[in-house]
Amino acid sequence: MLKNTLIKAVHAGAAEIIRFFNSDFKISNKEGVNNLVTEADHASEKAIMDVIRGDFPGHQLLGEESGKFIQDSNYKWIIDPIDGTVNFAHGIPLNCVSIAIEKDGDIIMGAVYNPHLNEFFLAEKGKGSTLNDKSISVSNETQVLRSCLVTGFPYTYINLPNGPLEIFDKLIRKGVPVRRIGSAAIDLCWVACGRFDGFYEHKLEPWDSAAGYLIVEEAGGKVTDHENQKFSIYQHKVLATNGKIHDELSDIITNKKSL
Ligand code: IPD
Ligand code: CA
Ligand code: CA
Repeated sequence: MLKNTLIKAVHAGAAEIIRFFNSDFKISNKEGVNNLVTEADHASEKAIMDVIRGDFPGHQLLGEESGKFIQDSNYKWIIDPIDGTVNFAHGIPLNCVSIAIEKDGDIIMGAVYNPHLNEFFLAEKGKGSTLNDKSISVSNETQVLRSCLVTGFPYTYINLPNGPLEIFDKLIRKGVPVRRIGSAAIDLCWVACGRFDGFYEHKLEPWDSAAGYLIVEEAGGKVTDHENQKFSIYQHKVLATNGKIHDELSDIITNKKSL
């Protein structure tokens, strides 16, 4: 039942993405210069929440656009109605719906769907990850120098030691390809299915990382914070890899090792 509702909710959000994509929609700005929110983000979140509330009226919800709905329940649905909103607003078909289910503090299910590529990623704790119903697994690369990585940059630059530009600089000076797709949820799923060997980002929110986190772990990968410590979706610094380059990449991005 949980899984059916999850899949239904993802499709309801994706239908709104498709309805608004490349049409005239209202765009407004959140905090930061290009931190956009569109009519489609709100429509997708509403469609998703309507499905979940219809099936599980007592569950808690956390949505990027409408915030928290706290109730006395062990279950919390964590929703990004469009991950990759800037791409969406520019007609770039790299955006998705991302929904995770947390039970007693653990992520037990996650789904990410990019309707433009028709790629549906799904993970259930202990049961593996799939892409369009086929089992997926992470890559086998063992060296950062030979890896293909992906990252993202926050809307408002964070001026910290080992910040986004410092790490990017370090990697690309050595010739390591570091892509920038513009959707953290897609980045994580593309690590899970082996297209990328690793992903890191400095300022993610729970709705960006929750579903993708489980999809990577269930595909045999590893997710921690930058310091290689236990991951929580409620902290911002995410490191997700195939597991084999994890320690090395953590040491590089925390400046313990040069490349
Ligand atoms: C953003 C995307 C982007 C990441 C940003 C996120 P949004 O989410 O995931 O890839 O770099 O940090 O905020 O705003 O498109 O939902
Ligand atoms: Ca997001
Ligand atoms: Ca979003």
